[in-house]
Amino acid sequence: MNSHTKMRLGIISALHEEQQGLVEAMQGPQRRSHGMRDYTLGTLWNIDAVCVLSRLGKVAAAMTASILVEKYGVTHIVFTGVAGSGDKHVKVGDIVVAEALLQHDMDARPLFPRFEVPLTGLQRFATDLELSSQLAGAAEDFLRDELVKVLPGKDMQEFALQQAQVHRGLIASGDQFIGSAAHINQLKADIPDLLAVEMEGAAVAQVCFELGVPFTVMRTISDNANEDAAVDFMQFVQSVASPYAFHVIRKLCQRLAG
Ligand code: ADE
Repeated sequence: MNSHTKMRLGIISALHEEQQGLVEAMQGPQRRSHGMRDYTLGTLWNIDAVCVLSRLGKVAAAMTASILVEKYGVTHIVFTGVAGSGDKHVKVGDIVVAEALLQHDMDARPLFPRFEVPLTGLQRFATDLELSSQLAGAAEDFLRDELVKVLPGKDMQEFALQQAQVHRGLIASGDQFIGSAAHINQLKADIPDLLAVEMEGAAVAQVCFELGVPFTVMRTISDNANEDAAVDFMQFVQSVASPYAFHVIRKLCQRLAG
């Protein structure tokens, strides 16, 4: 992928902190409002881009992704944000790049199998391999070369970020903040290859599948989806999630433009 493909990259996050700094980094930013959201069009590290905050949940994310494609002409979408861990090897401060996404609260039984999106025949929606590989590479470069330079030592220590890793695999989305060990353990039993839980990615995945738009999702793990999740989440989002998102998206754009 390079600048000759005339890529226009849509960048979605649910919350301000998950995208902080990107709009400010844009060259020639132009803000447009539509459907109660602000879309900022401009250039990010030589990539034509549109940044938007979806707010939380699948409907909000689906609406945002649809408008990005249909009204603002994006050709590719990246979602960046935080998630709860869905696997014991996936730690707070790690990054998960999705290979596929599933709606864990989709259940139209007995009409359709659990998790299947009715009348698509699909439980899982795959991300674009090229875009995901570039994103995972950008995330690995960031953790290896820059994390210690951009985060204060106290945050590195508090969240044990020295060990941070990139994982690739399945992310599940639902209109629920998962905050109990019983709930996340049940989901893990039902979906053994689960890596992370969040509230938007699979909705973006379905929209992009239906519209034929390549997309990927990056999530920084903010909590373990257990009883401590809400406290951990707020602290983490404020101090760690913003620099992660900013620098990984910067590196992604530099790779895509290169
Ligand atoms: N996003 C971040 N942490 C989450 C959790 N525990 N459940 C759902 N979405 C999340």
